[in-house]
Amino acid sequence: MGLVYSGVPAPLARALVDGLGLRLAVETGTNLGESTAALGEMVDRVWTVELSPKYVEWARARHAGTPAITVLEGDSAAVLAGLAPRIDRPALYWLDAHWCAGDSAGFEAQCPLLAEIDALDTSPTAAESAILIDDASFFLACPYPDYRRSDWPTFLEVADRLRARHPRYITTLLDVIIATPPAGRAVVERFWQAKRDADMESSRERARQAEEALRARSATRGEP
Ligand SMILES: C[S@@+](CC[C@H](N)C(=O)[O-])C[C@H]1O[C@@H](n2cnc3c(N)ncnc32)[C@H](O)[C@@H]1O
Repeated sequence: MGLVYSGVPAPLARALVDGLGLRLAVETGTNLGESTAALGEMVDRVWTVELSPKYVEWARARHAGTPAITVLEGDSAAVLAGLAPRIDRPALYWLDAHWCAGDSAGFEAQCPLLAEIDALDTSPTAAESAILIDDASFFLACPYPDYRRSDWPTFLEVADRLRARHPRYITTLLDVIIATPPAGRAVVERFWQAKRDADMESSRERARQAEEALRARSATRGEP
């Protein structure tokens, strides 16, 4: 539900999966299972955790034909605590189990993020794994007055918890908090430079097209 991508930013996730050799993925907050499907195209095995029984049912129906995807029901931090010791290869974690208004679950405890980080850090491969946390802006300055502010850690609290057990590189791009092993910094920066080059090229192309359209209009009017 981020401000830039609705769901996992697939090009960034793909860059981390390829650059760090990640073969597994864990998502918290399945919702409709959109990002689950995107992650399923990148890695060998995906686990996704959802608290709302309605969304669990929908996601299980949607991914029934994909044995590499498992939809788990329950509170993300509690389920992760049981799952993490079995994550025996470096993984991509997409942490997105925060309350998102409407009929989503989690209103009573709106952001389980710190407990999720504690749980995933018990995995034997936590140090080599990468973590993407959706809605970075919620941890910078909560944009919704009806959100219970005391439930949401600040960005610095999140960063401290991410670095409590492993020396992670941490940054934020595309409304996502990114935490990787130190070697992930080069992967993230290569991704960002390539994206910036592509964005610059497409804005130059738009400017060229606008100029051509202006020239064509002037020529039809017989202007010099
Ligand atoms: C923003 S949506 C997730 C979107 C999805 N990850 C995607 O990328 O398309 C948040 C989801 O988290 C679920 N949720 C809220 N609190 C939760 C918790 N403690 N444990 C598991 N799921 C939770 C909500 O029911 C909702 O479906």
